[in-house]
Amino acid sequence: MCGIVAYVGQKDAYPILINGLKRLEYRGYDSAGVALFETDIIVSKKKGKVQELVNFMDTRPRNGKIGIGHTRWATHGVPDDINAHPHSSGNGRLTLVHNGIIENYALLKAALEKEGHKFKSETDTEVLVHLIEEIQKRDNLPLEEAVRIALTRVIGAYAIVVLDENEPGKLVGARKASPLVIGIGENEFFLASDATPIIEHTKRVVYLNDEEIAVVRQSGEMEIKSINNEVLTPFIHELDMEIEMLEKGGYDYFMLKEIYEQPNTIADCMRGRLNAEEGWIKLGGVDEFANRIANAQRFIIAACGTSWHAGLIGEYLFEELARMPVEVEYASELRYRNPIITEKDVVIALSQSGETADTLAALEMAKEKGALIYGIVNVVGSSIARMTDAGSYIHAGPEIGVASTKAFTAQVTLLTMMALRIGYQRGTISESYFRLLLNELASIPAKVERVMASNQLIEYIAGEIKDRPNALYLGRGYNFPIALEGALKLKEISYIHAEGYPAAEMKHGPIALIDENMPVIVIATNKSAYDKIVSNIQEVKARKGFVIAVVTEGDTVISELADHTIEIPDTEEPLTPLLSVIPLQLLSYHIAVMRKCNVDQPRNLAKSVTVE
Ligand code: G6P
Repeated sequence: MCGIVAYVGQKDAYPILINGLKRLEYRGYDSAGVALFETDIIVSKKKGKVQELVNFMDTRPRNGKIGIGHTRWATHGVPDDINAHPHSSGNGRLTLVHNGIIENYALLKAALEKEGHKFKSETDTEVLVHLIEEIQKRDNLPLEEAVRIALTRVIGAYAIVVLDENEPGKLVGARKASPLVIGIGENEFFLASDATPIIEHTKRVVYLNDEEIAVVRQSGEMEIKSINNEVLTPFIHELDMEIEMLEKGGYDYFMLKEIYEQPNTIADCMRGRLNAEEGWIKLGGVDEFANRIANAQRFIIAACGTSWHAGLIGEYLFEELARMPVEVEYASELRYRNPIITEKDVVIALSQSGETADTLAALEMAKEKGALIYGIVNVVGSSIARMTDAGSYIHAGPEIGVASTKAFTAQVTLLTMMALRIGYQRGTISESYFRLLLNELASIPAKVERVMASNQLIEYIAGEIKDRPNALYLGRGYNFPIALEGALKLKEISYIHAEGYPAAEMKHGPIALIDENMPVIVIATNKSAYDKIVSNIQEVKARKGFVIAVVTEGDTVISELADHTIEIPDTEEPLTPLLSVIPLQLLSYHIAVMRKCNVDQPRNLAKSVTVE
């Protein structure tokens, strides 16, 4: 949440910052701003999306080879021009952008007000820049030293970049619990919340660690220190990402592109890890801790949002295939309870971004209790990826649409491989079923491709229900988490109220809502409990509900009952979610487009939720 980007070097900073902000807009789009430093620092900021800022900049100075930029997801203070970043110190000398939350800002603000500081905005960020100013002017310190001391007094999360009008030619950046990446070019540096604004300029990056401060200079020098003033040697990574991955590639929205990428992303997730012919699965992270994982007392899966839904499928998979006890936890709940976690547990974190603050904090807590921490993450080099004991990247490539699609199916693919790998080692799955599932899993990308062929039908169905105010999603077994995910997709991008429910639970409440206006989307591909789900559909029809059923190809029973059916190819039951979720992603997408919603940037949401 909130994206920051900064540049110092030999080129004009403005286009680099604006392109960077566009790439980071998935992190928040309440306001955007830049500060450009030529002879003075000039701050320009605007409520709304980056495009509003671009329009505003038509009449503003845009020169300078140094600058910082920000796109905001509001925490403290409404989204308006004044609360927009960058924020400046009282004397105007310092300008700062920030991602995170300064939790003790009220105390710091009161103390600074006593010293005569006056604040223009309601933000915690403005307090931080005034704090740095106060420390700097009291002892006449260089910027980096003032920043360092200020940060020792801050409680909370931050990634910041600061400019000082009296110290031209340099930027100071720092991080704690919010990401900051430094791109290294020829006598130039790029600082950003993730690598996406950097990739078109350089592939050489340094991921700043918590409580580290970087000084980068126009002359090409970089120094990194800890908050305790130790000089550190940075480790330079080579980015494995191409610029095309960040473009829409002819699609209207990133979300649609990402839905269509799934045959490839699922295959990428399996590449080199699964060999159906030879009958093996290799997962480096699991192999490294094979005995500890296979003999764990229990798995605890911690995640948020769509990743939590993938985790729920993980529970079904691990229980069935590896006979392993599993608990699936909302990371935000887990961390604030007093959970019983021991060194015999394995805590598995699922996170697309690898930066979700609640997930990160839950893992830190579990680590302290001695559990083995396993990360299933998409963004390479992210905070969760770096703090875990072991893990597997899902290799879905950059996901830019705020509503997660391809990361979800890659997470489920990874969990399926993990359950198979562990089940095989534990002897809880027969050789023949193991081989069968391996073959089936290898055929999933082609089957996902076949689901895409129903796109026109799905678009037609979307037109039928786009104006209904509510929707109910029902599923059983492996399709229950898919009902939850389908409902979440619909509400987050089309603003239609939707609920996911276990189909049998419908009669304990939601059935009261059913009438001819209620679309009920039933994911009915089950082999086990098939008759039961047919009965559930009959119960809905008896109350005049409008039924859209996702069924297995060739199903004639449900197509007689339902108002519309969408067919998916047959597969083994544990693999069904990888196919049944696809029509629901497409359905939400089309409904959102028809309702003229901004599919990629739904209101109030953001990706990479770095606030708690
Ligand atoms: C936000 C995003 C969701 C995502 C969730 C968890 O709510 O909008 O798409 O599922 O965060 O994010 P993570 O990066 O940890 O998977």
